Amino acid sequence: MKSNYILFLLSILFMSSCQSQKSNSVVESIHPFNYTSSKKVIAEKGAVVSAHPLASKVGVAILKAGGNAVDAAIATQLALAVVYPGAGNIGGGGFLVGKMKKEGLIAIDFREKAPGAASRDMYIDKDGNPRTDWSQHGHLSSGVPGSVAGMFMAHQYGRLPFEKLIQPAIDLAEFGFAITEDEAAYFNNYQERFKKYNTEPTVFIKENGWHKGDTLIQKDLANTLKRIRDKGAAGFYEGKTADLIVAEMKRSNGIISLEDLKNYKAKQRKPHVFQYEGYTIAGMPMPSSGGVLLDQMMTMIANRQIKEMGFLTTASVHLMVEAERRAFADRTKFMGDADFYKVPVAAITDSSYLAERMKSFDPEKATPSTVIQPGIVTQKESDETTHLSVIDNEGNAISITTTLNGSFGSKTVVGGGGFFLNDEMDDFSIKPGVPNMFGAVGGDANAIAPGKRMLSSMTPTIVLKNNEPYIVVGTPGGTTIPTQVFETLVNILDFGLSTEDAVYKPKFHHQWLPDRIDVEKSFPQTLRDSLTKMGYTIHERSDIGRTEIIKVLPDGKFEAVADNRGHDAAEGY
Ligand code: DON
Repeated sequence: MKSNYILFLLSILFMSSCQSQKSNSVVESIHPFNYTSSKKVIAEKGAVVSAHPLASKVGVAILKAGGNAVDAAIATQLALAVVYPGAGNIGGGGFLVGKMKKEGLIAIDFREKAPGAASRDMYIDKDGNPRTDWSQHGHLSSGVPGSVAGMFMAHQYGRLPFEKLIQPAIDLAEFGFAITEDEAAYFNNYQERFKKYNTEPTVFIKENGWHKGDTLIQKDLANTLKRIRDKGAAGFYEGKTADLIVAEMKRSNGIISLEDLKNYKAKQRKPHVFQYEGYTIAGMPMPSSGGVLLDQMMTMIANRQIKEMGFLTTASVHLMVEAERRAFADRTKFMGDADFYKVPVAAITDSSYLAERMKSFDPEKATPSTVIQPGIVTQKESDETTHLSVIDNEGNAISITTTLNGSFGSKTVVGGGGFFLNDEMDDFSIKPGVPNMFGAVGGDANAIAPGKRMLSSMTPTIVLKNNEPYIVVGTPGGTTIPTQVFETLVNILDFGLSTEDAVYKPKFHHQWLPDRIDVEKSFPQTLRDSLTKMGYTIHERSDIGRTEIIKVLPDGKFEAVADNRGHDAAEGY
C-alpha cells in the first residue's frame, strides 16, 4: 500500500515536471536568463517591436507557432505585464488599432473607467485644493482596469487558443527572468514609494536592493495569470482576483468595487481615419485624443511645403510646433469620453476649420499661447506607458499602446494578486485648469463621472498605402505621444528620413500650455537660438518617447526598429 502511494507520488511528480517543461517550451527557447537584444531587424514573415526584448521574442515565437499578428500582440502584451511591470500591465488599460486582411480596420478601447463611487470633485480637499497626490498615487488613483478585457476582445481576431498566448507570461512569472542593471536601478529607485503604498508583502520590495542578474520571480502574478488562462476574463474580473483587488482597495482609501470589476467591458470603436498626402492614416478615436490630434496637426501642416523646408530646420520646427500648439488648445476644451460628452470631432478635424486655426500663423515668429484659444465650433453632430507594433505576412498589423499611467501606476500591488494597479484617474481633469502629471489641463469634457473613461493621449497608429499596412507606430510619453507620432511620420513621409533616423533624431514637443517648446538634450543649439529669436521659450528635458515602429519596404519585407531611448527591442523572422 505504502509503495503504491510512493509510486503514485512519483508519477505525479514526473507528470508535473513534464507539464512544466512542456508549458515552459516557448520561454526556454527565448533564454530568459541570457538573452540577446536587437534594435533593428529586417524580416520576411513577421516582426514584433516592444519595450522589452523578452516580450518581443515571445511575440515572434507565437508567430512562428502559427499565430497571426493579433495572437502575437496579445502574447507580447501579456509578457510585458511580467517583464516590464512599470508599464506593461494587467492592472491598467490601453488601446489597439489594427488592420486585418479580412475585417479591415479595427479599434479596441480597453481604457480604464472611473469606479461607480467616483465623483467630479473626489480629488478636491475640504479647503478646495486640488490633490494631485491623491489622483497620482495609491489606491484612490486607480481606475477600473481594462487590459484583460481588451485582450479577450482582441482575441476574436486571433487564431491560436488564449491558453497558448498567456502561457509564456505565466512561465516568465513563475520561473523568472534575469533583470538588467537598468531594471535593477529602476526598481531600486521606487523602493520607498513601494513601501509607502503597500502594506502586503510584494516581490518588488527587496531590502538589500536589486542587482544586475537577479532573478525576478512573481508567483502571485503567475497564479493570477493562471486564473485568467483557466477562467477567461472572469478569472480577472470575478472570483478570487476580483476579491483580491477589492480587499486591496479596502486596505486604504480605494473605491473599486466587485460590481465595477464585473461590469467592466472593453469596446469596439470605429478607428479615426484621415488622409495625408495619399496615405490613409488610422488612429484611435475618443476617449483617446491621439487620433484626432494627429489628424489636426497633419492637416494643419499639409500644403505648406514642409518638404522644401527640410528636416529639423527653423522653418519646419516652427510650423510643426504651431500646429501642435493649436491642436492641444482644442484638446483642453473639446476632448473627453464621447460616451459621456459630445465631442465635435467632425468640426475640429474639418479642413476649413483647421485652415482658419492656422490663419494666425506667422512664418517669422511664435504665436503666444495667450493669443491661441480653443477654436470656435458650432456643434453640428450628435510617466509610464508602453507601445508594441506587430505585423505578419498575411496582411495583418496591430498597434497597441498600453499604460499604468505613471511608472508602476499607483505603486500599489494587489496583495496576493502580484500586479500593479494604474493611477489613470489623474488623466481626468480633476479641477478645471489644474494640470495633470503631464501638464495637460481640461474642463467639462474631461471631468470625472462614474463609469466614464479618462481622456488619453495614446496614439497607436497604422498608415496604409494602397489599403495595405505600410507603417505601424506608437510610443509612450503622456501628452508627448501624439506629437512624437506626428514628428516620426512627417520625418518619414515628408523628409524621407530612414526609419532609424525618424525615431532616433532629436524630438521636440509643444502642448499649448505651458507655452514652451520641450526639447531633448540632443536638439541642436543653433536651432534653439533661432527659435528663441522668434519668441519661443526652449525647455530642455529628458528623453521624449520610446517609439516602436515597423515599416513595410518596397520588396515587401518588414523593417522593424525599436527606440534607442530604452531597452526596446525589435524581433522578426
Ligand atoms: O493615456 C495617457 O495619455 C497617459 N496615461 C499616458 C501615460 C504615459 O504615456 C506615461 N509614459 N511615459
